[in-house]
Amino acid sequence: MMKAIGYHQNLPLADERALLDLTLPEPVPGPHDLLVAVQAVSVNPVDVKLRAGVAPEPGQAKVLGWDAAGTVLAAGAQVQGFAPGDRVFYAGAIHRPGANAEQHVVDARIAAQMPTRLDFAQAAALPLTAITAWELLFDRLGVARGGGAGQRLLVTGAAGGVGSMLLQLARRYTALEIVATASRPESMDWVLGLGAHHVVDHGRPLADELQRIGLGGPGEGVVDLVASLTHTEQHYPALVQALRPQGKLALLDELSGPLDVMALKRKCLSLHWEMMFTRSLYGTADMAAQGRLLAEVARGIDAGELRHTLTRRFGPLNAANLRAAHAWVESGRAIGKGVLEGF
Ligand SMILES: NC(=O)c1ccc[n+]([C@@H]2O[C@H](COP(=O)([O-])OP(=O)(O)OC[C@H]3O[C@@H](n4cnc5c(N)ncnc54)[C@H](OP(=O)(O)O)[C@@H]3O)[C@@H](O)[C@H]2O)c1
Repeated sequence: MMKAIGYHQNLPLADERALLDLTLPEPVPGPHDLLVAVQAVSVNPVDVKLRAGVAPEPGQAKVLGWDAAGTVLAAGAQVQGFAPGDRVFYAGAIHRPGANAEQHVVDARIAAQMPTRLDFAQAAALPLTAITAWELLFDRLGVARGGGAGQRLLVTGAAGGVGSMLLQLARRYTALEIVATASRPESMDWVLGLGAHHVVDHGRPLADELQRIGLGGPGEGVVDLVASLTHTEQHYPALVQALRPQGKLALLDELSGPLDVMALKRKCLSLHWEMMFTRSLYGTADMAAQGRLLAEVARGIDAGELRHTLTRRFGPLNAANLRAAHAWVESGRAIGKGVLEGF
């Protein structure tokens, strides 16, 4: 048996039963899986949304946690490239139990050796947001490595977890000019430190803000690509207005209703969804691309090209500390990533 943190019912964090310390059977790895001794986990908005709104299977506990770093205990018969004792990092799959437990199983094709220069907590802060940002930039918006010269990318909500990786990837591995949005002095400093060329305030009208920093006149399209990372419905009309003809808009957040795609027609704009669990959920033929991109992120960290985004350590993994980390993410004011480590 192993320690795990999970829930039986969807409750607000004020209720102590929102997340519980549990004892559960240890998982059994399948042929493609790694069995991992979890050393650290990070919390993402997906954890908060599931805890608040997705019920466990009847009679079962639901265990969250889709960002982990740990040590390989065993590898399934079909696994290649990993051995017991390896230090790995990964985000995992949404249709399987999460990593808020002493032991966890993950398909080896979506995991990678963690960066050698990071500790487990720093490594656990990376995978989910690195995969999301990488897929959004290179696969969905279709920017080539080393490409993007003469093009401008706008990133909204850029100081959060996804933005903190997206800014680095775009600055390090493309020639794009990057405009980030942030609303507070500390989040503005953070995005400039991670590679944004300009910062504008998403609490003010976007067109005015872009004009204030010298990018175009009122109502004029001034960006080629948009990464709308949060509150897309709130910003959508202004983002459509800010895009140049034939521009691209990528989004990943939950919407409460349909978006008006007709607004995109006049400028021939295209819309691109990113969903980092798609490859593992459908077992796509290219799902190993996630393992490869994580390996490339690890290489970039070890080469000093990228840096980790850990900003908060919430202590050992138990229900009380996990509730505190959920509250931080739920506030909508997180800068970078928060992590729990050890049991
Ligand atoms: N589809 C996928 O694969 C996928 C993957 C990862 C995340 N997501 C979703 O993407 C969203 C962002 O994730 P995340 O981890 O980056 O979130 P996060 O870390 O919680 O984002 C926090 C940031 O959001 C900014 N923010 C708050 N209110 C805003 C507003 N009204 N307009 C613009 N920015 C605002 C804040 O900036 P200031 O403090 O400066 O205001 C803060 O830095 C979430 O909805 C998450 O569920 C989806």
